[in-house]
Amino acid sequence: MTDATVVPGLEGVPATHSAISHIDGTAGLLSYRGYPIAELVAQSHYEEVALLLLDGELPKAKDLERFDAGLRAHRQIKYNVREIMKFLPVTGHPMDMLHCAIASLGMFYPQQELSDAERDNASHLDAMAMRIIARIPTIVAMWDQMRFGNDPIPPRSDLSHAANFLYMLHGREPDPLHARILDACFILHAEHTINASTFSVLVSTSTLTNPYHVIAGAVGTLAGPLHGGANQRVVEMLEEIGSVDNVVPFLEARLAAKEKIWGFGHRVYKTTDPRAAILKEMMEDLAQAGHLRQSRQFAIARALEEAAAERLGSKGIHANVDFYSGVLYHEMGIRSDLFTPIFAMARSVGWLAHWREQLSNNRIFRPTQNYTGASTRAYQPLSERH
Ligand code: ACO
Repeated sequence: MTDATVVPGLEGVPATHSAISHIDGTAGLLSYRGYPIAELVAQSHYEEVALLLLDGELPKAKDLERFDAGLRAHRQIKYNVREIMKFLPVTGHPMDMLHCAIASLGMFYPQQELSDAERDNASHLDAMAMRIIARIPTIVAMWDQMRFGNDPIPPRSDLSHAANFLYMLHGREPDPLHARILDACFILHAEHTINASTFSVLVSTSTLTNPYHVIAGAVGTLAGPLHGGANQRVVEMLEEIGSVDNVVPFLEARLAAKEKIWGFGHRVYKTTDPRAAILKEMMEDLAQAGHLRQSRQFAIARALEEAAAERLGSKGIHANVDFYSGVLYHEMGIRSDLFTPIFAMARSVGWLAHWREQLSNNRIFRPTQNYTGASTRAYQPLSERH
C-alpha cells in the first residue's frame, strides 16, 4: 500500500466545516457570521459580538441583556483558585499562570460531563461559555496585582467587559476612549478561523473533555512564539531600537540578517490585514485627540511603520494586527507580557464558538501517520545488547 501524502502543518487542508468566520486573504476581508468586522467594530460591542459568534445571529435585546448580566455576575473568582495562584512563581509568564488557573477553575465546577441533551441545549452551552469568558479578565488582572505584592482589585459589575478589565488592572475607571479601543481590540481578536489554537480546540472538544480543559489547552497553544506572542515582541523590538534615529539602521541590519520584523506580514492576508487597518485609523485619531501617552516607543513605532512600508510594502508585507495592538496596549500603560493573555481573553469567545460547533456534529479526531520506523523485530534481552 502506498503512503498517503503528508501535508506538513496541514497547510491548506480543510479540517472541518465551519460557519463562524471567513477570511478572504486576497481582498483583505474578515467577517464573523457574515458581518464584516469593520461594521461590527463601528456599530457593535464585544458582548454582542460574543453572542453573535456563539449563537450565529445578532441577539435580540432580551437575550443580549441576559448574556451581559451573566458575564457581569460571574466575574468573581473562587477564593481557592486565588490561593492556588498565590503559589505560582511571580517571575513566570502570565500565559503560564492563565493556563494553570483555567485548568484549576474547572475542578471547582462540578458538572463537567455533558449529557446528550445538554450538548443539544444552546442556552446551557452559552451559560457554560459565559462563565469562562467572564472569568479570564479577572484572572489576568488579579495576577498582575498579586505578582507585584498588591491585593487584587475586585471586579465591578457596573462596567463593560473591556472597561472592567482596565479598572481591575489600573485601579481606576478608564478613559472611556481607552475602554473603547480595548473593546475594538477584543472584537478584532475574537475569532480567526482554524488557526493553531482553534485547531487544538477542535481536537480536545472531539474527545468530549470539559470546556475548561479545552480552553486551557488553547491558551497553551496560543502561548507559543509562532502564534500569539508577536504583539509582546513588537514592543520589545521598539525598546531595542531605542530611538527614531536608529529605526532605518535597525531595519536594514535586521533585513540583511534575514530576520523578521515583529508585527509585519501575514500567512493569509496578501494585502493589508483588515484588523490592522481599523486599529491604525483608531491609533491616529486617538493620538491627534491627545488620548495616547505618545511615548518614545510610539514615535519609534510610527517611524518603523513608515520605513518598513517603503521597504517591504512591494513584497506584500504590511503591518499586521499585532503591530498596532502591541503599540496601542503599550500606549494605554499595559505591561507587555499581558498582551498575549489579552489576546486569549478576547479569543476565548471564538474558541468557545468552535467548541459549540464541534459538539453539534462531533467525530473524534484520529488522523493517521505514515510510519517511518523499524520493521517488526524480536525483543533482545538486556544481557545480549552490546
Ligand atoms: N519581516 C521581514 N520579512 C518578512 C516578514 C517580516 N515580518 N514576514 C515575511 N517576510 C518575508 C520573508 O523573509 C520571506 O522573504 P523571502 O521570500 O525573501 O525569503 C517572505 O516574506 C515570505 O515569508 P514567510 O515567513 O515564508 O511568510 P509566511 O506566510 O510563512 O509568514 C508570518 C507569515 C509568520 C506572519 C510572517 O510574516 C512573520 O513571521 N511575521 C512576523 C511575526 C508576526 O508579526 N506574527 C503575527 C502575525 S498576525 C497574528 O498572528 C495575529
